[in-house]
Amino acid sequence: MTRPRLVVLVSGRGRNLRALVEAIRDRRIPAACAGVISNRAEAPALAYARAMDLPHFVLSHRAFATRAAYDAALTARLRALGADFVALAGFMRVLGDELVGEFEGRMLNIHPSLLPKYPGLDPHRRALAAGDVEHGATVHFVTRELDGGPRVIQGALKIHPQDDAETLAARVLEEIELKIYPQALAWLARGELRYGAGAAWFRGRRLDAPLSMEHLEEGFR
Ligand code: GRF
Repeated sequence: MTRPRLVVLVSGRGRNLRALVEAIRDRRIPAACAGVISNRAEAPALAYARAMDLPHFVLSHRAFATRAAYDAALTARLRALGADFVALAGFMRVLGDELVGEFEGRMLNIHPSLLPKYPGLDPHRRALAAGDVEHGATVHFVTRELDGGPRVIQGALKIHPQDDAETLAARVLEEIELKIYPQALAWLARGELRYGAGAAWFRGRRLDAPLSMEHLEEGFR
């Protein structure tokens, strides 16, 4: 049985990309990385893809007159790569309804907040400003609502009194994101995680609340 093909969309450092590729390489995610697409040519994530001999492409939003034209080119590339699944990993563009519609149920995103709190930009700074005692990250299906799709898994940690946005972001990334994203993709690739009727389903059960770090399997903790 051929492994499902995963395409990862990036814009930045690529720490989540690296975690996903390592999990694919050591077979914890039963998928193939069919390609990496960045909207920024200078993204370190692209250098990592090149170093790992992965098909990689730059689709600069500056090369397209409209959002619709950009999304059409991105859709064409995803189809050409035979993407079964798409993972947004620090991808800093909002995708249009048509593209989201085509990949609904097959596209995941990771957002560094305890959604539905703090969708959009600067979640760490907003959590600190609000005086929250905990913060974290969420993997969710991508739908037309920005950072609003059905939540799959969420991890939380205590905010330290001396935390600033930078130290908090680093801890959330290391302690939560790099674990929950590979795990979610493993469940998706195995067919244990599905999307239907506007909800996420895990092993046949509708997820009315996201799974937590306690659900992480051996090898993802
Ligand atoms: C991560 O914190 C991710 O949650 C957010 O953007 C950051 C990307 O980091 N969407 P990287 O490119 O994966 O290192």
